[in-house]
Amino acid sequence: MASSILVPSTKLLMMLALLLGILICSESTIDHGFLQETNMTLYIHDYFSGPNATTIAISSPSDDSWIADNFGIMYYTDNPVTEGREPDSDRIGRAQGTFVSSAMDGSNSQVVMSVVFDTEQYQGSTLEIQGAGNPVQRVKEVSVVSGTGQFRYARGFATFETVYYDRAANYSVAEWNITMEHY
Ligand SMILES: *[C@@H]1O[C@H](CO)[C@@H](O)[C@H](O)[C@H]1NC(C)=O
Ligand SMILES: *[C@@H]1O[C@H](CO)[C@@H](O)[C@H](O)[C@H]1NC(C)=O
Ligand SMILES: *[C@@H]1O[C@H](CO)[C@@H](O)[C@H](O)[C@H]1NC(C)=O
Ligand SMILES: *[C@@H]1O[C@H](CO)[C@@H](O)[C@H](O)[C@H]1NC(C)=O
Repeated sequence: MASSILVPSTKLLMMLALLLGILICSESTIDHGFLQETNMTLYIHDYFSGPNATTIAISSPSDDSWIADNFGIMYYTDNPVTEGREPDSDRIGRAQGTFVSSAMDGSNSQVVMSVVFDTEQYQGSTLEIQGAGNPVQRVKEVSVVSGTGQFRYARGFATFETVYYDRAANYSVAEWNITMEHY
């Protein structure tokens, strides 16, 4: 009696095969071909004070210290992105995200940002950028972790550097070079 339970019946094997078949069929694999590499340079304009500020400090660990490298201070940005470094250069989108002073000694700022494109070519596509940048390092590097639209599955890195800084106007421009692979 016991041995007849251990030997699977033909019917049971057929049911198993059918079940496995269904399981395999519910997964599908498509060959996307080769990844393409895209390099792009863009400029992010930061207006950090005044009525039209595009960067705002949204929280500080203590009410009386809103200094940029204070551990835990958090900024939110919705900065214009252009093709060239001049403020009136062609607009290609917005850079929206948070910058948090993430190191206790002020040596790092964590960036989590979406570049939201609004050009005809990349309309509605985004790049998701994340990483730690040392505020005193001239050129910082963060990663491109993914993307949407034309940049689905994007992966790569971005280097950026402040190329213009006007303290009196509370305005700065950063140059970003993005290198990524995507389908
Ligand atoms: C993109 O830039 C990298 C260096 O960051 C270079 O090695 C690569 O050849 C460039 N690719 C294209 C497609 O221009
Ligand atoms: C802020 O933006 C408004 C609306 O675009 C504009 O009229 C105003 O001149 C701007 N103010 C400053 C200080 O740039
Ligand atoms: C961006 O790339 C250009 C051309 O290769 C280079 O001159 C510039 O220094 C780079 N800037 C950054 C921030 O990586
Ligand atoms: C720049 O920021 C400083 C400090 O917040 C402020 O006192 C000054 O009025 C700002 N200048 C402009 C042009 O917005």
